[in-house]
Amino acid sequence: MSHKLSTFSFVESVNAWQQQHGRHQLPWQLNVTPYKVLVSEIMLQQTQVATVIPYFERWMQNFPTVTALAQATEDQVLNCWQGLGYYSRARNLHRAALYITEKLAGEIPADLEQLRKIPGIGPYTAGAILSFAFNQRGVIVDGNVKRLFARYFGIRGPVNSSAFSKTVWAHAEAVTPTQNNRRFAQGLLDLGAIVCKPRLPLCEACPLHIECFAYSHNEVEALPEKAPKKTIPKRVGHFVWDQNADGLLLEQRNGNSVWPKLWALPEIDSPAPSAASKGEFHHQFSHYKLHACIWRAEADQSDNKQSRFTIDELDTVGLPAPMRKFIESALSPNSDES
Ligand code: ADE
Repeated sequence: MSHKLSTFSFVESVNAWQQQHGRHQLPWQLNVTPYKVLVSEIMLQQTQVATVIPYFERWMQNFPTVTALAQATEDQVLNCWQGLGYYSRARNLHRAALYITEKLAGEIPADLEQLRKIPGIGPYTAGAILSFAFNQRGVIVDGNVKRLFARYFGIRGPVNSSAFSKTVWAHAEAVTPTQNNRRFAQGLLDLGAIVCKPRLPLCEACPLHIECFAYSHNEVEALPEKAPKKTIPKRVGHFVWDQNADGLLLEQRNGNSVWPKLWALPEIDSPAPSAASKGEFHHQFSHYKLHACIWRAEADQSDNKQSRFTIDELDTVGLPAPMRKFIESALSPNSDES
């Protein structure tokens, strides 16, 4: 590592860049509180900033404090998360609020060990809370940081391997400063998101490029090394399209399904041999890919878990995002449907 910037100038370069070019107006950066940081970091784990912003704002209106969140029912919590996906995040956040209220007198602690005992808070989230909420030393490694460090330090090995992850964490431990932690952590994430992008990174705009291993060895696109392709299981799901003058038939999914408590087209085991297709969509979950086939109803299917919703009412119910997209496009005036 002797050819590298000293740790001091690495940190100074990231900080100076963040001050000039980084993001400063994200809603969770304004009047920052530990609770805002916790909520935003959980939302941002699998979702992009632009998608998260309106959800974050709505969440803070519904559950303005840890205590308010702890007092909410799981149904209210899931309802507010509807459309963001990966619903275990909502449940974990609710569990975290209950733990903080019951065990920590409602205060999110500025202490790594105590943070790690909170349900759903892993090493990244704990580090993010320390740096963003308390401006204390907190080591953060997420996908952005892994990519930036793999390129800058020339770290080899597939991104999803534990050896790769260990090496990145070791570098992160070594460079993370004890001062200005909020700025440094935001600088790393912003550099990763804005400059050191997965494709077509903007190396000339990067404050670290002169010392960057990948830049000087012409390996920017080759690092980090891709994870070997794993085959993601596919599952076919069949759903019924049953629309009449009273509206579209939906059923509320149960609380431990992939779409907990959301309303969706009724799912069936298999279509009748004579059923006509209404269309299809695909959706990637964390562990499998869903191929959804939608079939026109042949007879009235309704039962007591189901209800009809008019087009206007669809805006007010919790629908899975990929299914809402399908339904909206099927109902749009220029779709085939008569
Ligand atoms: N991703 C995770 N945390 C973030 C933050 N504070 N700002 C922007 N992107 C992020």
